[in-house]
Amino acid sequence: MLNLYEKYHSKKEYTSVGLFREIKKRFNPKRILYPGCYVHITPSLVFPDVVYVDSFRNTQKFYESLQVKEFIEKSKEYSEKTKIKFYHQDYNKDIPEDRESFDVIISQYGGFVGKAVKKYLKKGGILVCNNSHGDASMASMDPDYALITVYIRRSDEKFSISSKNLQEYMIPKKKVKVTRKSIEETTKGIPYTKSSSGYVFRKK
Ligand SMILES: C[S@@+](CC[C@H](N)C(=O)[O-])C[C@H]1O[C@@H](n2cnc3c(N)ncnc32)[C@H](O)[C@@H]1O
Repeated sequence: MLNLYEKYHSKKEYTSVGLFREIKKRFNPKRILYPGCYVHITPSLVFPDVVYVDSFRNTQKFYESLQVKEFIEKSKEYSEKTKIKFYHQDYNKDIPEDRESFDVIISQYGGFVGKAVKKYLKKGGILVCNNSHGDASMASMDPDYALITVYIRRSDEKFSISSKNLQEYMIPKKKVKVTRKSIEETTKGIPYTKSSSGYVFRKK
């Protein structure tokens, strides 16, 4: 089972461990929600308490695997006991977690996560997303979210978070009318004059 994580993440040097370390340093969040996670368990190496959600077939076997649990125990970067929950379901449906109980939502290549699970994010909590499937564009048009910083991937271990010249980001290249509905239909992010590896929004 662990071979899936190796195949899609560690062997490709695409774990994004540097991003999670930066998020921890900057925001020190406690509870993390990661819908559309597939086998991306890197957050559990950095954060003790993570809830994962994915509907892909057999994903639950990965999260139940002893080998995966042992890998996390061996590789984790904190001393607290690891808490992991995995829900094998569509993240658009309710999950058995309290509303406004998470400090961070992670959204990476998994669709419109920010919109679907917004109710579980605390006010003041953050959405860490990229724009590959349009989630950042969607959040930028949502009055409940405000862009607070962007992140730049330098290497898998090295990410930088910057709020410098934030107003220069997320300016559409073309003057065509884009709506939340049109983003949803195309599942594509808006092309911007200046883009970043990813974006961090705060829930108002
Ligand atoms: C391209 S993978 C990305 C996985 C992971 N986030 C990463 O960065 O490696 C997208 C994942 O999102 C999941 N996904 C997409 N829509 C979903 C939904 N509505 N409910 C649950 N999972 C979903 C898919 O099953 C798939 O495992």
